[in-house]
Amino acid sequence: SSGLATRRVGSRIVCLKETESTNQVAFKMAEEGAVEGTVVIADAQSAGKGRLGRVWLSPAGVNLYCSVVLRPAIAPMAACQLTFLSVVAVARAIESCTSLKPQIKWPNDILINGKKVAGLLNEMNAETEKVNFVVLGIGVNLNLRMSSIAESLLRHPATSLIEEGGEEVDRVAFTRRLLTELDELYDVFLQEGEGPVRAEWLERSAIRGRSVKVSQGEREFTGEVQGVDSFGALLVKLIDGTVETVLSGDVALV
Ligand code: BTN
Repeated sequence: SSGLATRRVGSRIVCLKETESTNQVAFKMAEEGAVEGTVVIADAQSAGKGRLGRVWLSPAGVNLYCSVVLRPAIAPMAACQLTFLSVVAVARAIESCTSLKPQIKWPNDILINGKKVAGLLNEMNAETEKVNFVVLGIGVNLNLRMSSIAESLLRHPATSLIEEGGEEVDRVAFTRRLLTELDELYDVFLQEGEGPVRAEWLERSAIRGRSVKVSQGEREFTGEVQGVDSFGALLVKLIDGTVETVLSGDVALV
């Protein structure tokens, strides 16, 4: 057993030395019936996946790469709510293992001092009416020295906990904390719905009330962030007072 005092997350933990992508492994295991709470952790990923088909740099030994299988009885439309869970769990774990103050940037980036320190990639398998399973993929830069990475490989300003906090982070302790927080948040989600977790997400989010520029392909507009709806969409109030519901795109503070 993992020794974790959790209800669901970590019911089974698979640790791999190197794999292409923990999301890919977890997805395959879930398709083959893996129990809810199954966690796949790798020391290194040779083809770590980021959002929008991007690559997630995954060198060995220094960071956390993990994927969690959940099987909530929800509609596919509601699955994006699970992003709130992993974002908040990572933020809590960072706060509990370091003295750093993480910020959340919609939809699922975690920043420290304006630089990205963690990324989340959820993938799901669903039918029209119900979700079969969701894989929550979580990558956190723990002890990565940014000078070891060529600038050209980074799309956004990126950082790690050691770069920001100056202290090495115990990978096992961090992982345990993260899985414990995720389990607790998932329990709240199942008992009380997405409300409480979304409220914490919003409270921690650095963009509430701020002016942002939204880019959706060709289309760009600026407005003030009002909040986030129960489907994870960002609500942006335009200059003329209308509120735009933003389901996808890139958001930058202006
Ligand atoms: C992003 O910000 O673009 C999302 C990055 C998600 C990276 C994690 S690392 C563990 C899991 N396995 C993957 O291949 N991707 C996610």
